[in-house]
Amino acid sequence: MTRAPRTVYLDHAATTPMVPAAVEAMSAHLLEVGNASSLHASGRRARRVVEESRETIAQALDCRPGEVVFTSGGTEADNLALKGVFWSRRTADPRRVRILSTGIEHHAVLDPLHWLTEPRDGHPGATVELLPVDRDGRLEVAALRETLERSPDDVALISVMWANNEVGTLQPITEVVEVARAYGVPVHTDAVQAVGAVPVDFAAVGVDALTLTGHKVGGPYGVGALLARRELELTALLHGGGQERDVRSGTIDVPAIAGFAAAVELAVKEQAAYAARVGALRDRLVAGVLGAVPDAVLNGAAPDAAGIDRLPGNAHFSFPDCEGDSLLMLLDAQGIECSTGSACSAGVPQPSHVLLALGRSEDEARSSLRFSLGHTSTVEDVDALVAAIGPCVDRARSAGLR
Ligand SMILES: Cc1ncc(COP(=O)(O)O)c(C=O)c1O
Repeated sequence: MTRAPRTVYLDHAATTPMVPAAVEAMSAHLLEVGNASSLHASGRRARRVVEESRETIAQALDCRPGEVVFTSGGTEADNLALKGVFWSRRTADPRRVRILSTGIEHHAVLDPLHWLTEPRDGHPGATVELLPVDRDGRLEVAALRETLERSPDDVALISVMWANNEVGTLQPITEVVEVARAYGVPVHTDAVQAVGAVPVDFAAVGVDALTLTGHKVGGPYGVGALLARRELELTALLHGGGQERDVRSGTIDVPAIAGFAAAVELAVKEQAAYAARVGALRDRLVAGVLGAVPDAVLNGAAPDAAGIDRLPGNAHFSFPDCEGDSLLMLLDAQGIECSTGSACSAGVPQPSHVLLALGRSEDEARSSLRFSLGHTSTVEDVDALVAAIGPCVDRARSAGLR
């Protein structure tokens, strides 16, 4: 009998396995009854779990418990931040129609931004300005400063991600906040990929809103949060029972929130050790892949001496003369799972909007693959990829898979 090949999971940026602490915390509440809005003892017990979880997350990320708004994940938190702040700020001052962001944001930011540009209900749409990034995918803060200086009074908000999900580059969030503060413009950051990977401190960095999600930090799917400063006006997207300070109605998912909080607490506690261990694995992977395929190009910022400027678990390459999707399938046949990071609609591979924003050609963008490591990754995983990548690239090239 032939044994199925071991799965080598190198797609932790897409989703990472739950940690046992989160499974335990979640399971402990799955069989308990009680709506956290009910007034009886079971309801109060459920409410206590939610409020303790809120405190755990607030302590881990340095915000006030009342600033944690639970959502169904990163996509909802991004939508709430962008639409909620835009609508509130434009209502307060109809001149505020500009939103400043970057072309490398996740679709959970870019698509609501695009949606907001359309006129609705008698209001003109937003004007979205996507600021330039350099070849490593780092926002050019000078461009932000310049556009704000030129016309500060019509800006509703700024949204810049903390860490890019495709190429792993960290953004200069502290500088963004400094520039924005001078003009009193709120800043939202999508920190979905950053929490647990790099230090994230809501109060210290001074952003007004921050997105995180459970399934990227070892928690369950379908739960996340928007950290939103209490002073930040947010128009609700979901109306109903008035949960989550009337910003996000809907019966609260108590077990998921308990699992989420346990995962965030552990991820933040272990962040430094994680970054050291996974960063070393990433360096081994990068050296191994470049050794096996010398003309491969590492995309994104190079890690600096302290291993920062790039997510510790991210390695993103272009393989000239290869189609990323074909290479992905060849690796998958060997049990090695990774991602192109780009959307594939109707079976036609689309070049990644992130790579295009970094100034790459469509061919370069289409020849890219992302390998992302996480808390369960091992040296054996990395070595399996390093052994397989050369022959797979040769096969993709000789078969003319492009
Ligand atoms: C940077 C970033 N933002 C938002 C999301 C969406 O989060 P969720 O899957 O929880 O909706 C993702 C998920 O891939 C992401 O990587």
